[in-house]
Amino acid sequence: MESKEINEVGPIGIFDSGYGGLTVLREIVRQLPAYDYLYLGDNARAPYGTRSFDIVYRFTLEAVRYLFEQGCHLVILACNTASAKALRTIQQVDLPAMAPGRRVLGVIRPTVEVLRSLSASGHIGVFGTPGTIASGSYDMEIHKLYPSFSCSGQACPMWVPLVENGEAGGPGADYFVKKNVDSLMMSDSEIDTVILGCTHYPLLVDKIRKYLPEGTGIVSQGEIVAASLEDYLCRHPEIEHCCSRGAVVRYVTTEDPAKFDNLASMFMGEEVTSTQIVL
Ligand code: DGL
Repeated sequence: MESKEINEVGPIGIFDSGYGGLTVLREIVRQLPAYDYLYLGDNARAPYGTRSFDIVYRFTLEAVRYLFEQGCHLVILACNTASAKALRTIQQVDLPAMAPGRRVLGVIRPTVEVLRSLSASGHIGVFGTPGTIASGSYDMEIHKLYPSFSCSGQACPMWVPLVENGEAGGPGADYFVKKNVDSLMMSDSEIDTVILGCTHYPLLVDKIRKYLPEGTGIVSQGEIVAASLEDYLCRHPEIEHCCSRGAVVRYVTTEDPAKFDNLASMFMGEEVTSTQIVL
């Protein structure tokens, strides 16, 4: 793959298990509108958050391989679960053999990097899928960068299914959001900043804010990941030169495209037309 396509340019690949990565894509397109993007939602196999390490790794690798085949030189895992469970192995084991000139980046490190300026108490809360929280990835990254900070994780197994099923605005969502927010705050009342450690969660942000103590900072990943991508492209001209600039965004999904288009159009605030693919 590598030698044949080395001189070609292609879109930037954005991957998520489902709709959540659209919250990142929207900000990336807003901040970096000149590039082409190819969004892949593995909706047929979402959610990933309750799946085992091996399955998330295998599904993510299939998605990355597909995006490389479509000409992407840079792929963003706009999914915390995939970033937590698959990114490191893909970067360290698969990429050197499969496509040494291409890059795969995640969302956890750039999110943690912004915390220093945000938290006064140094007590951080993280909402995430069961997989992301169990992986301990946020704890590790936070303690690496800020040894004196404390980090409490809260798994929210129902939040992604609520979003994937178009129920983020409904009363069922209130029940589950309140339950998990209360549980996090009971674990550490000094938390002054929470990370939405799943790219689906910005779609629940109004309800999350409603149940958090007033004044709690909420870190949402879209803008952060977009800024970090911009910085990355500046620092890596060899990758930037491989990113095509036609300002076109394409969408592919492993589920029914009509269903994807309907919800994705709501999330993106514009009409979305996707194509179905098999991974
Ligand atoms: N949006 C994803 C994340 O950031 C995936 C959620 C899921 O599929 O469970 O973790």
